[in-house]
Amino acid sequence: MKIAVIPGDGIGPEVVEQTIVVLNAVGRKFNHRFYFEEVLMGGTAIDAVGVPLPDETLEICRNSDAVLLGAVGGPKWDNMPGDLRPEAGLLGIRKALGLFANIRPAKLFPQLKSASTLKEEVFAEDGLDILVVRELTGDLYFGDKGREELPQGGQRAWDVAVYTTHEVERVARVAFDIARGRRRKVASIDKANVLESSRLWREVVSRVGKDYPDIELSHMYVDNAAMQLVRNPAQFDVILTTNMFGDILSDEAAMLTGSLGMLPSASLGQGRPGLYEPVHGSAPDIAGQDKANPIATIMSAAMMLRYSFGMDDEALAVEESVGRVLQQGYRTPDIAGTGMVVVGTREMGRLIAENI
Ligand code: IPM
Ligand code: MG
Repeated sequence: MKIAVIPGDGIGPEVVEQTIVVLNAVGRKFNHRFYFEEVLMGGTAIDAVGVPLPDETLEICRNSDAVLLGAVGGPKWDNMPGDLRPEAGLLGIRKALGLFANIRPAKLFPQLKSASTLKEEVFAEDGLDILVVRELTGDLYFGDKGREELPQGGQRAWDVAVYTTHEVERVARVAFDIARGRRRKVASIDKANVLESSRLWREVVSRVGKDYPDIELSHMYVDNAAMQLVRNPAQFDVILTTNMFGDILSDEAAMLTGSLGMLPSASLGQGRPGLYEPVHGSAPDIAGQDKANPIATIMSAAMMLRYSFGMDDEALAVEESVGRVLQQGYRTPDIAGTGMVVVGTREMGRLIAENI
């Protein structure tokens, strides 16, 4: 399997390095060869070649079986124009590879229950296990945008929210298919009381839902969903939502678990290659200090094994190894509690690899 690797900015290179250590351990144990090819994207690409997403990067990603990404962005590039910011690289690669379905599981590790800011009684018996399916290539992010001077002074700026039937349908199918392997519930989140694009969204999701009579479909407005997520998160199984609402709700769902440093994501299109990245950002404040938690990226690699390579046993081996290392009391600083053994990025990676 050929994996294009984008270490990116901030803590990206450190967490990616440990993920490669873990993937190599998987390779040894299960007799696979993973080939890694490192490419530039984000701030480091801007510094090296002047653009956030070089053509060569895209070409190598297209010719790989999957893409592993650390994180991009940082204060150094914050004052660049919109199309020359590190984030433009991320948006560009999503669009270019047609990665329309972003899958973000927010699962509470039982070992980390006390890390959540919610009271323990708010969780279900078995903790919390929500999966957000966020549409990734439409909506406000990719609609017409612009800015103009007004004759009376001042300016006007706009970002248009657009969805087509086809875009809604394909991401809805991903959500319903995933729900079949889980608790068979899909909550579709929109703002259909105000937005026309949301009214189309709701119509199409309802129609697709008819093909899945075994799945319980509900619709919810986004403001209510934001509230329900903190009031009673256990009511949710799969959350299906638009690009903009999904950006916000997936951060909220992630934080319910209390450990952003643990959460993986997958961005999938039709066929190969998928892109796998941690939900957290580049954390420039702790970059280069061996403090970052590599688990989110390592869990993203587990998703890669499962979704892109069909290696279910291998994925499970990674996830179980992470559970074992936590069970043994090892923690990076972001999730450390009293009585735990605090370790750095490298040691955490080594422990997880060893437990495989
Ligand atoms: C995310 C991030 C990105 C997004 C940014 C960095 C462009 O917040 O992946 O959620 O808004 O999609
Ligand atoms: Mg976000």
